[in-house]
Amino acid sequence: MKHLIDPMDLSLQEIDDLLDLADDVIANKEKYAKVCEGKKLATLFFEPSTRTRLSFEAAMMELGGNVLGFSSADSSSSTKGESVADTVKVVSCYADIIAMRHPKEGAPFLASLKSDSPIINAGDGGHNHPTQTLTDLLTIRREKGRLDHITIGFCGDLKFGRTVHSLIKALSRYEGIRFVMISPEELEIPEYLREEVFSDGKLTYEQVRTLDEVMPELDVLYMTRVQRERFFNEADYVRLKDTYILDMPKLKNAKPDLSILHPLPRVNEIAVEVDDDPRACYFRQALNGKYVRMALIMNMLEIA
Ligand code: NCD
Repeated sequence: MKHLIDPMDLSLQEIDDLLDLADDVIANKEKYAKVCEGKKLATLFFEPSTRTRLSFEAAMMELGGNVLGFSSADSSSSTKGESVADTVKVVSCYADIIAMRHPKEGAPFLASLKSDSPIINAGDGGHNHPTQTLTDLLTIRREKGRLDHITIGFCGDLKFGRTVHSLIKALSRYEGIRFVMISPEELEIPEYLREEVFSDGKLTYEQVRTLDEVMPELDVLYMTRVQRERFFNEADYVRLKDTYILDMPKLKNAKPDLSILHPLPRVNEIAVEVDDDPRACYFRQALNGKYVRMALIMNMLEIA
């Protein structure tokens, strides 16, 4: 059975096919309105979410399917002490496909070993977030017309941000990607990711401390929130949370066709004034998330 736990579970060809299918869903929505009739998606969210859970549910509804699930660990039997493995074993009797988010790294992988239905990792701790990565790839491809030969700046919490980790891995397989990491020292990408992606010397990245010094060179700027819930102490969070705030003056030296992405939720790191700039892609990106999840559900249920 096919599960999606890590973005690297998908080959480049599979990613291309999913993005092509998402483009087709966008162009021909009516064609897909009933393809999942009689099918059920369960969303098991042990950690808060707005976009990921609701876009999964909207995606299944727009395919004509049904949804069930829970949106916090408090409302599931995990409060009684049930293991993730048991919960998933049972839910896979009720649902054809399962999207699961969990604060512990590796929990969806563990679930996939026990499940009788395909499991989609909807975010595991600071680790991976493959469906956000598909959303990001679809957005970059639609905005830029390509997924290669791009200078991309990752800005903010590169240590705990799972969307960053997943997207870096996924992009490392395309030609001519120039990675620029913009973070304070404490929030640089984790050692394991450095090992996995950059240790063989084929790929390199630049590490800088300010947005200004690289802004004119960026094709894509991937802004992120400082991940408060993954910090060990509040004082460090407070000290680091407003390190980068993207506002209109900061964009003065940016390319006219820069694409600004953010997985959202935003806290302070992008001033609201930026939303009206055509270079702000993050709300289009959130919408793309629904379409790419429609493509993924169809693909994993072997409907398309
Ligand atoms: C992200 C996540 O949950 O990792 N949100 C999302 O899924 N769009 C980013 C975040 O929480 O900062």
